[in-house]
Amino acid sequence: MIEVVNLSKHFNGSVILDTINFKVDDEKLVVILGPSGTGKTVLLKSIVGLLAVDGGEVFFDGVSLQKVTKKEIYRIRKNIGYVFQGTALFDSINVFENISLPIIEHTSISKINLNKEIKRILKIIGMEGKERLFPKELSGGMRRLVAIGRALALNPKYLFYDEPTTGLDPIACDRIKALINTLKKDYKKSGIVVTHDLEIAREVGDEVYMLKNAKIKKLKKIDKEFYEK
Ligand SMILES: Nc1ncnc2c1ncn2[C@@H]1O[C@H](COP(=O)(O)OP(=O)(O)O)[C@@H](O)[C@H]1O
Ligand SMILES: [Mg+2]
Repeated sequence: MIEVVNLSKHFNGSVILDTINFKVDDEKLVVILGPSGTGKTVLLKSIVGLLAVDGGEVFFDGVSLQKVTKKEIYRIRKNIGYVFQGTALFDSINVFENISLPIIEHTSISKINLNKEIKRILKIIGMEGKERLFPKELSGGMRRLVAIGRALALNPKYLFYDEPTTGLDPIACDRIKALINTLKKDYKKSGIVVTHDLEIAREVGDEVYMLKNAKIKKLKKIDKEFYEK
């Protein structure tokens, strides 16, 4: 379980996150909706510790990221797969190498086992046989799939998705949403999706919140409340 307690973040005097509280139960996905520039990426990065917070704490399975040693932060981070906004794939290396990076960096896996592991991940994301292609040779939807594949590389318990469907055509969107749901249901990955896409909120969110004016509010009906002024 992830618990976000009184999380606050500001930049140069402007408050982006003001005492945010919510939790993510195991095997559940929380979606946080908000228009561009409201602080969704800042929230996600603050939760995983990629940005230092100005107040509050985040607990992963009861352990506060703000109170542990560097070594423990490293252990917790390995349990978090992060799908960056816009994928952040490396253009100069192929799909196999992009997905391998975290595994090579964090483990001493043999070449044979690495090959097996990448095959397993490619199968999950539906990209079998595409390992030698470079990001430039892939469609936008396929690049997102590879970014999810890379986030899966260390078999994390949690997945964080930053705008996973933004800018994709409807067919590619459906594929990403289906994968996110499969990862939750069949692979027991819980986590957070931040997005401005109402459809994805409706289709993958066990709980949906709206981020507005640095606060979050739980939504019961997605359409009506989202458009409420
Ligand atoms: N490193 C930073 N330094 C200063 N301001 C930042 C930084 N990162 C984000 N911001 C500001 O925080 C606000 C929220 O940004 P962001 O989280 O990227 O929005 P969203 O992901 O919802 O589009 C924006 O006004 C942005 O300019
Ligand atoms: Mg963003």
